[in-house]
Amino acid sequence: MLTDPTPHPFRSLPIRREFLVAAASALVLGGVARRPVELGDADEDAEATPLDLTRFLALGNTLAGRLVVDRSPLGQDRYLHALAALAVRLAGVPVPAMKEQAAPGYSLGFHEGGVPFTVLHWKLAPGAAIREHPHTYGNVVTLVLEGDVRIRNYELVGERDYEARGMFRVQRTCEAFLRPGGTNLVSLERNYVHGFLAGPNGARGLDITTRIRERRETPVLEIAAKPVDEAHGLYEASWKSGG
Ligand SMILES: [Fe+2]
Repeated sequence: MLTDPTPHPFRSLPIRREFLVAAASALVLGGVARRPVELGDADEDAEATPLDLTRFLALGNTLAGRLVVDRSPLGQDRYLHALAALAVRLAGVPVPAMKEQAAPGYSLGFHEGGVPFTVLHWKLAPGAAIREHPHTYGNVVTLVLEGDVRIRNYELVGERDYEARGMFRVQRTCEAFLRPGGTNLVSLERNYVHGFLAGPNGARGLDITTRIRERRETPVLEIAAKPVDEAHGLYEASWKSGG
């Protein structure tokens, strides 16, 4: 071979074939070894194709049912990110019957079929707001479908006390300006207070909510306009019941 200045293309074929067979075997063996852990379940698609609501629910219910059992902080992160990865593929979500809420310009609907999560469909008129409120029993994937909305998330500084009277400190942990396809994740341990402010064209989207603790009344978080420490996003705040 070394003396042949013009190698024949088929001369190296046996070596290539051996290599390919070995590589294919390694892939198959690797696939078999990993499959029970991560791959091959009915909630995984081979490609990132758009999903209609029916298909999303079929895949999402299986996925969520498998991952929701781990309610640890890391388990919730994993659950929310996995569900969000499916949700961003949603296309053509129909608008269900919407009901006006107490907050001006805010209406809410519901899509049946989510297990163990609930698919809420929200709509905000231009400039309408949902006041900051904590999630104490259900985590959330928010997905924007139309318009644009600013979402701010907060966490309490120090001991987390939803009964606290008087002022305490909160930290702004996220400020997102979301457009269609954008997501915001609320775990019970991270970014667990959120509030919405629709842009000048209004906004519409989904809150995919999963209750993992006992239901309880949700207060509103009133936050001082001026931070006490802007660099760290620290604000004085207090609870207002009945939100
Ligand atoms: Fe919420």
